[in-house]
Amino acid sequence: MIPEPARTVHTVSRVLKPWAKQHRSASPLFVRGEGCQLFDDEGRSYLDLSAGLVAVNLGHAHPRVVEAMREQAERVCFVSPALRNDARERLAERLARLAPWPEGARTFFTTGGGEANEDAVKMARMITGRHKVLTAYRSFHGSAPGAGTLTGEDRRWANEPGMPGVVRFFAPYPYRSPFGVRDAEAETRAALAHLELVLEHEGAARVAALVLEPVVGTNGVIVYPPGYLEGVRAITERHGIVLVFDEVMTGFGRVGAAFAAQRFGVTPDMITMAKGIASAYVPLGGVLVRESLARHFDDVPLMCGHTYAGHPLAVAVADAALAAMEQEGLLERARELDGWLRAAFAPLAARHEVIGDVRGLGAFFGIEFVRDRATREPLVAWYGGVNTPMERLIAALRERGVVAFGRYNVVLVTPPLVIERDAIAHAAAVLDEALAATDLLTT
Ligand SMILES: Cc1ncc(COP(=O)(O)O)c(C=O)c1O
Repeated sequence: MIPEPARTVHTVSRVLKPWAKQHRSASPLFVRGEGCQLFDDEGRSYLDLSAGLVAVNLGHAHPRVVEAMREQAERVCFVSPALRNDARERLAERLARLAPWPEGARTFFTTGGGEANEDAVKMARMITGRHKVLTAYRSFHGSAPGAGTLTGEDRRWANEPGMPGVVRFFAPYPYRSPFGVRDAEAETRAALAHLELVLEHEGAARVAALVLEPVVGTNGVIVYPPGYLEGVRAITERHGIVLVFDEVMTGFGRVGAAFAAQRFGVTPDMITMAKGIASAYVPLGGVLVRESLARHFDDVPLMCGHTYAGHPLAVAVADAALAAMEQEGLLERARELDGWLRAAFAPLAARHEVIGDVRGLGAFFGIEFVRDRATREPLVAWYGGVNTPMERLIAALRERGVVAFGRYNVVLVTPPLVIERDAIAHAAAVLDEALAATDLLTT
């Protein structure tokens, strides 16, 4: 008789987690979301303080978006990207209206942000006939080998040697200047001089694109000092380099405007998008290309394409999500949230020595932790280290009903844009309590 196979009880998830050791960790099983709340399988609710991964700008389960998803599913779920589709055309029209260029814009759709960055680079190379690409060290642009090479921080290491032609530079970081200065004006001046130097040594005429997050996201929520983005725009324009703003995190209301480009009054040549474009209800990304550059491909084949690019289900959902955001004033609401977030979280620094800096813009804040406030020694080694203190803090927050994410020594405070003031105050009180209960200095 053939014995019955032993039944295996899977206490360990069969899902491989990104950017992490696969050790067992007691994580709740999230089964539902609504507004700013997530719910686990036991009915406990959690405040989603990071809007997923700085993505669910509209909050979870917006009824009109869910309805749009259902409606589109009933109409058609797939139309080849080589054919025209009404939902795709509608979204591209809306994006052209939201874009910062009076001349107009066209969109090349992708399935996510990393792919959008890779395609932006490919387009810039085709347009300029040049090869090199500049990116900042403290940056994240995606995981797959191309975008992973554009990425400046240690998540690119597994890709190395990576895509040829990518050259990195240091961008400003006012709290920890790579140029050894401590005032914002000097930081801007030093960073722009450094960029000019890099270009001189690389040969500016060989550089196709410069890809930059207008506010740095997972690498510490770094708001560049006044004049830096303007300076980068002037330099790239002078050298005929395509300036790409990676607005995967900053786009769609995160900093209080459709794009950071408008918030800062600095206009790039292309904008890469994902996350907030569909409030992460479905996977979608894209490259928004100013009309004068998009026109290049009227007579030259655009050598990019993906089966799921501009998937009808995704574009219909994105259009509904953006329509809801526009109607509910959410593209600008982060300007109001800015004051509330600052007022709730900045005072925590006075109560916890381990907080080195609370900074941000709009609904895009980061709290940077240090071992020593005087020397600004980071709580954990910036690169390649095992991040036990941060894992403990994130777990302490979750035990108290707040889901957040952090990287290195920075926790991101980037809630859905529908959050109310009392929920912000509650989150700050929970962080206060979690910090009091957790000794972050022991590893
Ligand atoms: C600024 C930025 N660019 C690109 C990406 C990559 O986007 P995706 O994960 O959709 O490929 C991310 C993801 O976090 C990001 O933060």
